[in-house]
Amino acid sequence: MMKTIRFGIIGCGLMGREFASAAARWSHLPDMNVRPEIVAICDTNKAMLPWYTDNLPSIEQATKDYRELLANDAVEAVYCAVPHNLHEQIYCNIISAGKHLLGEKPFGIDKAANDAILSCIAEHSDVFVRCSSEFPFFPAVQRIGEMIEADAFGRVIEVNSGFMHSSDLDPAKPINWKRMIASCGEYGVMGDLGMHACHVPFRAGWIPRNVRAVLSNIITERPDGKGGMAPCETWDNAALLCEATDPASGEMFPLTIKTQRIAPGEKNTWYLEIKGTNAAARFSTRNPKLLEVLEYKGGEQTWQQIDTGHETAFKSITGAIFEFGFSDAILQMWASFLYEMVEGKPIRKFAGCATPAETAVSHRLFTAALESQRTADVVVV
Ligand SMILES: NC(=O)c1ccc[n+]([C@@H]2O[C@H](COP(=O)([O-])OP(=O)(O)OC[C@H]3O[C@@H](n4cnc5c(N)ncnc54)[C@H](O)[C@@H]3O)[C@@H](O)[C@H]2O)c1
Repeated sequence: MMKTIRFGIIGCGLMGREFASAAARWSHLPDMNVRPEIVAICDTNKAMLPWYTDNLPSIEQATKDYRELLANDAVEAVYCAVPHNLHEQIYCNIISAGKHLLGEKPFGIDKAANDAILSCIAEHSDVFVRCSSEFPFFPAVQRIGEMIEADAFGRVIEVNSGFMHSSDLDPAKPINWKRMIASCGEYGVMGDLGMHACHVPFRAGWIPRNVRAVLSNIITERPDGKGGMAPCETWDNAALLCEATDPASGEMFPLTIKTQRIAPGEKNTWYLEIKGTNAAARFSTRNPKLLEVLEYKGGEQTWQQIDTGHETAFKSITGAIFEFGFSDAILQMWASFLYEMVEGKPIRKFAGCATPAETAVSHRLFTAALESQRTADVVVV
């Protein structure tokens, strides 16, 4: 029997539309026994709503006021994708209203906001709450996750994880809320891209002990969209060198987490590289089919290039040899949210959204990184 979970969306911008589109093609996942139905939408900007009401016949409520959506008993769960300065208040209100929540990263504009969200979750243990993170659902990353679970890497030598953009290299790009401290937060690029780069290492248990961060603000003013210039104060790029512990061996290893908005030539590159004594693996969305694996059993050290197809955590109607992309990752992530909500645990260790506890570790790391930048010192996480 198919179970339906009725959703509201708060924040109908870029990411709200991705969820609506995923929900509209749920039949893509033939083995799911739970599906989302979007019954309510909310955005303070009325212009965002017609795309939804034109395309989703299930919508019964469209409002500018998220409190009205939360007062709607038909709404059982909420996807919230709003600017970072609104996370604390709106997420806490959603949870206190007894609605399940998939919230967006960074899950609070700063550590104090994240702490407040986690306290609210602790007071409402009947509510299922997760943070969005879609990149682990690329089939190559699922394969790497299986290697981690099988202890295939041996002793971890080094892990490099990151997320790079390049469109901010253009100094003529007008400023928006993601480039302002008041709405994006002091973390800057780490708040925007950091959780994506942290998720797989944290899930593997590779938790930073300390960090030396080098943060850069490369373009310090941008067109304000009204003919003038506005200060652009957020960190554009962040390079974090962390000491992490391998839970299996108890030994330390270097973990680098790089997030950059100004990475020349990179459009939307999420990457992960793991080097161990028995195996190494690397993947980048730059070449989203390609998984590279080196297995060391003595003798020649050879990188194998594996062409991944559509081998997904949640069975898809797409043929196994066909390519996988961003919107497929979003669909898989949504499947994981609903699956875990109903079943009580992820289908596989690396096929789950980020947990609130994982977001808390990311906030400890980014807060330590800000201090490291200020003091030019290594800071305990
Ligand atoms: N998972 C990902 O890959 C990914 C990608 C981009 C952004 N994000 C995250 O998603 C969130 C939103 O980013 P976006 O790119 O969708 O931004 P966006 O600017 O495209 O959309 C945000 C929407 O929220 C609306 N909004 C603002 N205040 C509101 C309020 N009080 N009530 C209701 N709606 C309100 C805005 O009008 C806007 O339409 C952020 O937390 C961001 O970090 C995640």
